[in-house]
Amino acid sequence: MKAASPIGVFDSGLGGLTVFGALARRMPEEALIYFGDTARVPYGSKSPEAIARFSAQAARFLASRGIKLLVVACNTSSALALPAIRRAARVPVIGVIEPGARAAAAVTRGRVGIVGTEATVRSGAYPRALRALSARIKTESRPCPLFVPLVEEGWWNGPVVAAVAARYLAPLKAARVDALILGCTHYPYLKPAIARAMGPRVRLIDSAEETARETERALEGLGLRAPRGRRGRREFYASDAPDRFRRLARRMLGPGVGQVKLHSFDA
Ligand code: DGL
Repeated sequence: MKAASPIGVFDSGLGGLTVFGALARRMPEEALIYFGDTARVPYGSKSPEAIARFSAQAARFLASRGIKLLVVACNTSSALALPAIRRAARVPVIGVIEPGARAAAAVTRGRVGIVGTEATVRSGAYPRALRALSARIKTESRPCPLFVPLVEEGWWNGPVVAAVAARYLAPLKAARVDALILGCTHYPYLKPAIARAMGPRVRLIDSAEETARETERALEGLGLRAPRGRRGRREFYASDAPDRFRRLARRMLGPGVGQVKLHSFDA
């Protein structure tokens, strides 16, 4: 492991690009390799066993590219598969749950809403992480399974998104939460619609920035920060339809997104 080695970033699809963007803004000199498992997205409706198997494969692939640290930019994998990912990656691993919980605990007056995939909500990972930070925080969780396909389809605003958001979020609004954890890295794409549905008094928590901060701290602790000065290399892989991934990634990150290579797990 060398300081000049890249950081690996992994998600089931486009969602982890919200974390990738935060890492690139915070540490422009770091080389970053992204893998989106577009052949198998969504993970959120799969079994824990499938999620662990897919996540471990992704971790092994990124490890084979010589990464110095792995950021699991997927709440579903972070909630259900961290032990399998750690065994496969053999480098330090950072998930998105703890950073998101910390960011929510820092701003809430006591009632935190959590939205995520079915698997993440069922795992109870966020309520557990919040309870560990403060016994007085009350939580209310709701799965929003249609959000991920809307994002992967490129429908990030408009009347369909507004109607889906209003329906999913009504119980959280009724529970009078004052902070809402976007517990899926796809959801920040829908932030304007989610903010409109929740109203101006609810703080939306997107764990991307907090995860980037934690990654920086971890690299500093390990003495593995890349030398300052030159911009790090950016590399993108998808397990299916790399051109489609590139088109949407450019909409998200800008025209700097270069070639997206195919890495398939099929024999
Ligand atoms: N973006 C991922 C997450 O944070 C996964 C969404 C999915 O594949 O269902 O949970």
